[in-house]
Amino acid sequence: MCGIVGILGKSAVAGQVVDSLKRLEYRGYDSAGVATLEHGRLTRRRAEGKLVNLELRLSQEPLSGTIGIGHTRWATHGRPNEINAHPHATDRLAVVHNGIIENFRELKAELEAKGVRFETETDTEVVAQLVTHEMRGDKGPAEAVAAVLPRLRGAFALAFLFDGEENLLIGARRGSPLAIGHGDGEMYLGSDALALAPFTDQITYMEEGDWAVLSRSGVEIRTAEGAPVKRQRQQIPTGAYAADKGNHRHFMAKEIYEQPEVVARTLAHYIDMARGRVCPVDMPVDFARLDRISIAACGTAYLAGMVGKYWFERFARLPVEIDVASEFRYREAPLEKGGLTLVISQSGETADTLASLRYAKQCGQNVLAVVNVPTSTIARESTAVAPTLAGIEVGVASTKAFLCQLTVLLCLAVAAGRARGTLSAEDERGIVDALIGVPGLLAEALKGERQIEVLAREIAKATDVLYLGRGTSYPLAMEGALKLKEISYIHAEGYAAGELKHGPIALIDERMPVIVIAPYDAVFEKTASNMQEVAARGGRIVLLTDERGAAEAGLETLATVKLPEVHPAVAPLIYTVPVQLLAYHTAVFMGKDVDQPRNLAKSVTVE
Ligand code: F6R
Repeated sequence: MCGIVGILGKSAVAGQVVDSLKRLEYRGYDSAGVATLEHGRLTRRRAEGKLVNLELRLSQEPLSGTIGIGHTRWATHGRPNEINAHPHATDRLAVVHNGIIENFRELKAELEAKGVRFETETDTEVVAQLVTHEMRGDKGPAEAVAAVLPRLRGAFALAFLFDGEENLLIGARRGSPLAIGHGDGEMYLGSDALALAPFTDQITYMEEGDWAVLSRSGVEIRTAEGAPVKRQRQQIPTGAYAADKGNHRHFMAKEIYEQPEVVARTLAHYIDMARGRVCPVDMPVDFARLDRISIAACGTAYLAGMVGKYWFERFARLPVEIDVASEFRYREAPLEKGGLTLVISQSGETADTLASLRYAKQCGQNVLAVVNVPTSTIARESTAVAPTLAGIEVGVASTKAFLCQLTVLLCLAVAAGRARGTLSAEDERGIVDALIGVPGLLAEALKGERQIEVLAREIAKATDVLYLGRGTSYPLAMEGALKLKEISYIHAEGYAAGELKHGPIALIDERMPVIVIAPYDAVFEKTASNMQEVAARGGRIVLLTDERGAAEAGLETLATVKLPEVHPAVAPLIYTVPVQLLAYHTAVFMGKDVDQPRNLAKSVTVE
């Protein structure tokens, strides 16, 4: 899931390409590269690692071409070294690619049999060589691309630059997003509108299978079948994309601290504050008519969905089946026509989640997307959208988007409970009042940061950490473990507290911290028994609880982090804060790259 950019400019474009790539670094940062035409001849600069390395390279060996393409890479095929960095080129063209060409081995073998020699381990080079092969016949650039696209299997977005062609870029998309930007005598291509925001707010989103021929005077778009087609040009407000760290050291910290505000914004969308009720949700199908719902999502969004399952089942008595999207899409679960699938995604571009959406639609289901990026493919393809309003999330580890997902899911579960007559007006009022109090409680939970910062130094010494929770604290335990491992690289597991004795208890010793998420609720005593089992085996417990829980736990802990006492329905929202802060401070203390952890990317557009 790399980021790609193309610019047909009036003056030297390499600097603009790099600026634009910076906005796409969330899609991968294993290597980066730029190609321009220098006096008509293709010229590349590439560098392993983050964009700063490419910038350094360009400062030593500048490029002056007024047309160019660029790429920031999240490696799929081939090591993240300079040779494998994009753009990939032949003597005729250079290409940048986001996605995977699934049949690249057979295409490569076919070309090798014809004597073509390959320089890299990438699937992308096959595209460069195939188009070049067509051009060595009698085809022009557009005809050659048109001949090659139907031969490619997989998901991709591509941008081509041709030797000697000072006024031509070609873009193509299938499965991966690609946007066209319209300037004044300049044209742009980018993986998303965010990448193009410094140059233009006039955007055309290419649709599935489209390919486009760009010149400085405009663009001609064709469908996969080759028919000319008009796609809507939209004005995308550039202000929506402003991203800086404010007073924080990292985007992740800034985003954790934005949570009271973004949750308040999300609540304002879903709650009628005056009447103390959840607003009617624009649903593609009435909750009252459903026998069950399916949820598909990945990673943190999946864990938000798991919390949602507890809420839908409790408040709306509505059975929920939840899968990670990479399983859902291939499991071929029978889905009832007219039923409802919920997909949850921050980026709205996650390949497996998108494929799950499409599968559900093929089955005749309505798809409701809980999504953060309103212009994303998932938002555009679903039957209805429940926006999360977290604003742009830059840190690779999802924080504020998760909390907004939880907020939306709880509002939806309450709306479902009301529609199905399973939640009394009084209970709804109680949950809504609790929700209205959430921004304030989040701000209070953030005040515990100093204690967690100190605790993080202990956690940083561990090689393994176990997280335990029951009920809605169970998915939160998994989220805590996921956050810790992705940014600190400490191995961590999240378990249902009651499952401990069925295996993981064998791991307990004095070296492994056990983080227990246990608000004083209906299952607290059960979790307290599990804590005793840990303590009896010398395990060191970090207890996240409230005043009452701390008093009732009755055991010595490595640390007890006290949170405000809250309505059980909103506890997962409040307990998310210490879980995030602990991962954050552990990683910072260990000197890790918190905002861009190794091997990860913000938007996972490959399966
Ligand atoms: C973890 C994280 C990932 C994403 C997952 C889904 O902190 O951010 O696990 O949650 O890749 O991404 P979206 O929500 O964009 O579909």
